[in-house]
Amino acid sequence: MLLAPSILSADFTRLAGHTREALAAGANWLHIDAMDGHFVPNLTIGPLIVEALRGVKAETGCTLDCHLMIENPERYVDAFAEAGADIVTVHQEACVHLHRVVEHIKAAGAKAGVAVNPATPLSTLDEILPYVDLVLVMSVNPGFGGQSYIPTSTDKIARLRRTLRQRGLDGVLVEVDGGIKPSNVREVVDAGADVIVAGSAIFRGDVAANVQAFRRAVEIAV
Ligand code: DX5
Ligand code: ZN
Repeated sequence: MLLAPSILSADFTRLAGHTREALAAGANWLHIDAMDGHFVPNLTIGPLIVEALRGVKAETGCTLDCHLMIENPERYVDAFAEAGADIVTVHQEACVHLHRVVEHIKAAGAKAGVAVNPATPLSTLDEILPYVDLVLVMSVNPGFGGQSYIPTSTDKIARLRRTLRQRGLDGVLVEVDGGIKPSNVREVVDAGADVIVAGSAIFRGDVAANVQAFRRAVEIAV
């Protein structure tokens, strides 16, 4: 399991220190949630913050995983890639020409991810799967941290994993985002997730203890 703390719940007055703490405790990626106030009812951050985290990336070797909850995200792909994004994930629902956007991300030098909202069927990804590096399954409706995991997401993850296996696309990473905590992470990983995003369950309280609780939850045999 790769653990990707979402900085949405971090303390922005000490972002470098707070993210370093999570990485030192065993987290692998930093998940950066960019929201435009149109695609989702919230406004957050953009390429400037990705650039600000470059120092943390240089020190730790972490992957900067950018989740764009932005309408027509092709307008910002180059800016995120130039700022230091390793992965740029766009929403299937936000792109009219999804294949073009995916190719644009790769041409800009980043890995390309596609995200689907909870109500979006996996069948909408049938044609794009061979072109992407990562699929992000949203397990909450995007827009805010601290929401509850939507239980039917588990079956969706398992179906995606099965499809990737059947189509010989095992190199495509499955990432899951929203409402994941030490109490349900095992279920999500067992269903087939490679990358776990967690915001509130990492950055609220003792960060190192929270990261360890995630690790223990997936390591303990049941
Ligand atoms: C939701 C974001 C998530 C969010 C996860 O729109 O994409 O990355 O920050 O936060 P938690 O783990 O608190 O649900
Ligand atoms: Zn996210």
